[in-house]
Amino acid sequence: MKKADVVHLILGDRRRVPARHLSGKAFAPSNIALCKYWGKREQELNLPVTSSLSISLGDQGASAVLTIHDRAHDEIVLNGKSVDVSAPFSQRLSHFLNLFRLNPTQRFSIFIETNVPIAAGLASSACGFASIVKALDALFGWELSNKELSILARLGSGSASRSIWQGFVEWHRGLRDDGMDCFAEAIPDVWADLRIGLLILSAKEKGLASREAMQRTVTNGSLYSAWPAKVSSDLFLLKQAIADRDFQTLGKTAESNALAMHATMLSAWPPIQYAIPETLLTMQKVWALREQGLPLYFTQDAGPNLKLLFCKQDVEQVVSHFPEVKVVDPFVA
Ligand code: PMV
Repeated sequence: MKKADVVHLILGDRRRVPARHLSGKAFAPSNIALCKYWGKREQELNLPVTSSLSISLGDQGASAVLTIHDRAHDEIVLNGKSVDVSAPFSQRLSHFLNLFRLNPTQRFSIFIETNVPIAAGLASSACGFASIVKALDALFGWELSNKELSILARLGSGSASRSIWQGFVEWHRGLRDDGMDCFAEAIPDVWADLRIGLLILSAKEKGLASREAMQRTVTNGSLYSAWPAKVSSDLFLLKQAIADRDFQTLGKTAESNALAMHATMLSAWPPIQYAIPETLLTMQKVWALREQGLPLYFTQDAGPNLKLLFCKQDVEQVVSHFPEVKVVDPFVA
């Protein structure tokens, strides 16, 4: 099954109907996984080995504006700067947009504005693809459900399936080969006191793309066989912690899940390590502060930066220890 077959399953005859509007505009939040997605069971459709659970970042993410033109190439402008057609980012985006063109000569102008660092492990591809899928829906007037948008966003980047929603989100791994049961869904709980701290330790683009890193881990990571069981138990604990507003269990489970994911990467060959010295020093600082009684946890994705997890009443203390942290209230959009 190819990506184009999935698009056909979802859009049906709407695939042939010209755009209903002159432009389509949409915002999608970035999301941080508390239980990570690491490893695909199928590469083409980005079908994951396990389910995962995230929290979206409210007003932190990407806005996309799409229009149609008939020049030779797509025009991509990222944060005010035109991106060269030969750049890997342009190629990846144009390749994705091929799935949606009414005819092979149709081209798009894509203006994307993000307020999260690109490719620094802050899930910028997730909010990027999710915002583009939502903007396509607005441009063509498809009126797709969030479940359908989530499946289409997954075709761009796995974690983008979760950025269709705000709040807590579970991405179901599904069992079908066509991935029609593999989509993200919101968990309705609102946890108003929860805060996420973005700690940019390096804004440099990451060296190894998550796609390659995941594949290598699945193929030869000696610890990877333990990962699916770790995910099942962490998903159970996280859902219970969310329902009970049990911050300690939420923080502990998220931190342990991230460390286990990175352990599977270290067990691959050649080994994969996204941490830089500052990452390790910051982890030790968090552990020391926790010893002293501050309820503070971290999580880390495919990059050197950390995301801190804490509660509203501790914002001042966290900021005093990490003056450079950007505090996000995930439930204010
Ligand atoms: O969707 P991708 O290919 O960018 O992979 C994201 C993987 C992690 O960010 C490390 C984990 C996750 O669940 O978001």
